[in-house]
Amino acid sequence: MAGSSSFVVVANRLPVDQVNTPEGPTYRRSPGGLVTALQPVLAQHKGTWIGWTGATTKHEDRAPEAFELDGMELYPVPLSPSEMERYYEGFSNSSLWPLYHDAVEQPVYKRRWWEEYRRVNQRFADATAKVAAQNATVWVQDYQLQLVPAMLREQRPDLRIGFFLHIPFPPVELFNQLPRRAEVLKGLLGADLVGFQRPLGAHNFLQLTRHVLGLRPRGDSVELPDGRTVVAGAFPISIDFAEMQNLAQNPEVIQRSEEIRSELGNPRSVILGVDRLDYTKGIERRLKIFRELLTEKRLTAPEVVMVQVATPSRERIEQYQSLRVKVEREVGRINGEYGRVGQAAVHYLHQSYSRTELAALYRAADVMMVTPLRDGMNLVAKEYVAARVDNAGALVLSEFAGAAAELRQAFLCNPHDLDGVKESLMRAVTIDPTDAARRMRTMRRHLRTHDVQAWAESFLTALDRTGRTA
Ligand code: ADP
Ligand code: G6P
Repeated sequence: MAGSSSFVVVANRLPVDQVNTPEGPTYRRSPGGLVTALQPVLAQHKGTWIGWTGATTKHEDRAPEAFELDGMELYPVPLSPSEMERYYEGFSNSSLWPLYHDAVEQPVYKRRWWEEYRRVNQRFADATAKVAAQNATVWVQDYQLQLVPAMLREQRPDLRIGFFLHIPFPPVELFNQLPRRAEVLKGLLGADLVGFQRPLGAHNFLQLTRHVLGLRPRGDSVELPDGRTVVAGAFPISIDFAEMQNLAQNPEVIQRSEEIRSELGNPRSVILGVDRLDYTKGIERRLKIFRELLTEKRLTAPEVVMVQVATPSRERIEQYQSLRVKVEREVGRINGEYGRVGQAAVHYLHQSYSRTELAALYRAADVMMVTPLRDGMNLVAKEYVAARVDNAGALVLSEFAGAAAELRQAFLCNPHDLDGVKESLMRAVTIDPTDAARRMRTMRRHLRTHDVQAWAESFLTALDRTGRTA
């Protein structure tokens, strides 16, 4: 039986943070581009967001009830501790995540992880089938839920189903490693429209339907044996430009950014990195580059300082634990060699921050370093540009981040070529203000129109154009 929501978003996580109060846990809307973009669409269409709260529940516990927040209906999907371990930490983040990011860390495959991935995807699909109204539009998000489109279509052929992958989609040679590759592709082919960050992702996907499933893709689509056509395309995600711009203009944020500079000892240059503590982000190499420049005396501390914010992430996974050890060792080494009493060369912050504090950090930074080894988009790079309402600051950006396709006026670099990154960083540190302003203005002009609202609209318009099954 159909539900009553005519627009449903399905994502691994609900857009909420759990807040523990004496009366028990409650939820607060978490900041983030995706929810900002989709909240008005959800509010307008009596929409529902289906996802996990981030906390595990024992099997015998009842799933938390659906609740309303800012005009959206939120529908929690429970995960038990062992499901979290096998579906989330296992297949999603130890098999798919490294594989889809160029295998920069060795992907691990375990058969029992796959079983749990399938089971949890089925749970998300069942929940969606229950809440979606007749002929509703459903938008499934990201690599954790690649089987949902087909599982959903089986139960509800009336739905219009879109899927968007936020991370890169790998080339044929890499994807072919995946033990359940055919099932994953068939899962995605349950959608009417499969969206990627870059045209190459769409191309890889269509090629794979030929190599693995023997289908015949033509142009931007592929016809299935049942006669249905699936379209693949690129829809580069963006940020809420206006939100970050407004924050950055707020007098309190400006004051806070001045305070940050003074707390850092009023250095000539502040170099900033803001990333989840993830091995795809290239944090270790970035630190090493800074150390080498100090050793070579091309930079000197404390005239130049580095601030590295590394948000805690997926902390129970071994590869993340060993990354933390390596990063912290490098920070210790740099400060041991180049710091002074009360004056660190690298300020390392393993913490989460409010949007206001992030905006202040962006404004305080002369150079922003975004140097992932591979990244679907990288929103931090775009946020930095949005925050520079003063047209100052310089962005050093990896060619391997999706954002590099749009932010061409950044100092683009190959993060594997340490000498090349050093040159880019030195050019950014010594940039002439007129050149900096010219580059920043151009990037800002682009992002002002290519924001997250435009992204959601272009995907949903394209989805609307794809045919319902006749
Ligand atoms: P990923 O999705 O891989 O983490 P992105 O750069 O695309 O990388 O997005 C990260 C998002 O998380 C950005 O919106 C950024 O502002 C936010 N973020 C990163 N670090 C922190 C932090 N320490 N505190 C709060 N938000 C953060
Ligand atoms: C990336 C993924 C998202 C994920 C986010 C945070 O952006 O594409 O799907 O939600 O990282 O990771 P986490 O594992 O904490 O949800």
